[in-house]
Amino acid sequence: MPLTAKGLEGIVAAETRMSFIDGEKGVLEYVGIPIDDLARRSTFEETTFLLWNKRLPRADELAAFTADLRARYAPPGAAMKLLAGLPTSAQPMHMLRTMVSALAMFDPEPNRNDVPAARVKALNILASTPAIVAAFDRQRRGLAPVAPRADLSFAANFLYMLNGKEPTPTMARAFDACMILHADHGLNNSTFSARVVISTMSDVYSAITAAVGSLRGPLHGGANEDVMKMLNEIPTVAAAEGYIRGKLERKDKIAGFGHRVYKAYDPRATYLKTLAKQLAADTGNTPLYEKSQAIEQVMLREKAAKGIYPNVDFYSATTYHCIGLQLDLFTPMFALSRISGWSGHVIEQLEGNRLFRPDAEYIGPHAAPYTPIEQR
Ligand SMILES: CC(C)(COP(=O)(O)OP(=O)(O)OC[C@H]1O[C@@H](n2cnc3c(N)ncnc32)[C@H](O)[C@@H]1OP(=O)(O)O)[C@@H](O)C(=O)NCCC(=O)NCCS
Repeated sequence: MPLTAKGLEGIVAAETRMSFIDGEKGVLEYVGIPIDDLARRSTFEETTFLLWNKRLPRADELAAFTADLRARYAPPGAAMKLLAGLPTSAQPMHMLRTMVSALAMFDPEPNRNDVPAARVKALNILASTPAIVAAFDRQRRGLAPVAPRADLSFAANFLYMLNGKEPTPTMARAFDACMILHADHGLNNSTFSARVVISTMSDVYSAITAAVGSLRGPLHGGANEDVMKMLNEIPTVAAAEGYIRGKLERKDKIAGFGHRVYKAYDPRATYLKTLAKQLAADTGNTPLYEKSQAIEQVMLREKAAKGIYPNVDFYSATTYHCIGLQLDLFTPMFALSRISGWSGHVIEQLEGNRLFRPDAEYIGPHAAPYTPIEQR
């Protein structure tokens, strides 16, 4: 008897050694290390090494991995020309999906799927997408792109290329922590999409392109932008309660709350909340943080019994706003980080591939008559 699970809830469709989630207890570990430890103590570069190699690097290995990543910060010149021709009105997630796909055309061997080649492709995509997002944002502001700086970390270099000036160490560190927190999360929809695509032995670019397309949906990574729109719609801290209650009465979902897997506090939100509070205070955005707090309080009163808590997107909205990012760059930030996780999963899939091919239950008619067109 075939098993039916709409939305594949509760179905184990792959094995991974990357992240472990206990949704009931609110636990997330990367290769066994609690996410909170990584957010506070690791770097995005080190975390990516961990996810791709299933162990922490020694100092010399981390230095070599970091140098390799930095050497690939600049996208191919032809890709930047293509980017310059895109409409500045395009949404950044559509731009990013297009550009990840385009990178395949500047790779002389785009279809190589042996694991060493796939790792190099993944490193190229991970390293060069920040320059693409930053250049696109500058382009639409009428500014020339800023060349990457190989003496800066992944996080600091992105903010440098975006703003044309080096971020403060606090901002760079905050952004780095966000990158760590978003890097991997089990077999979420976009990661599953990447694994489904690579399971046909297609190519790394196609897999990551599909994942970007999946991530932009408002039920997935797109939620962080919706959170910010909601915060902008609420005029004052005092108005938060009425606004949320009104939405709940209309049975609207509140962006940044609830999760398919977590029925407890999302462990990524715990650290982000601390970070958001600190950054808000540092940047004169305390009222924004207080609005978030007020929303959380109402939601905890109303919905905690149903297992609905803030998820990763809720406090990342305030954090990204305080870092100075445009609203429509929030989801691309999620993507830049998750390329690390998607790539790790693509590598895992290639290491033990089995084509994904579930069944659909046919619920239509049988032996139906073919009516000639003139008689319909
Ligand atoms: C993430 C999400 C899609 C998970 O949904 P799911 O596992 O399919 O759960 P459901 O949508 O079936 O919700 C279960 C119940 O909780 C309620 N619920 C879930 N998320 C809610 C939210 N954000 N606000 C209010 N109620 C919510 C549903 O209305 C439903 O209630 P009911 O049983 O009375 O009908 C959902 O929580 C959501 O849409 N959240 C907002 C978008 C978001 O933040 N996404 C980012 C996730 S990281």
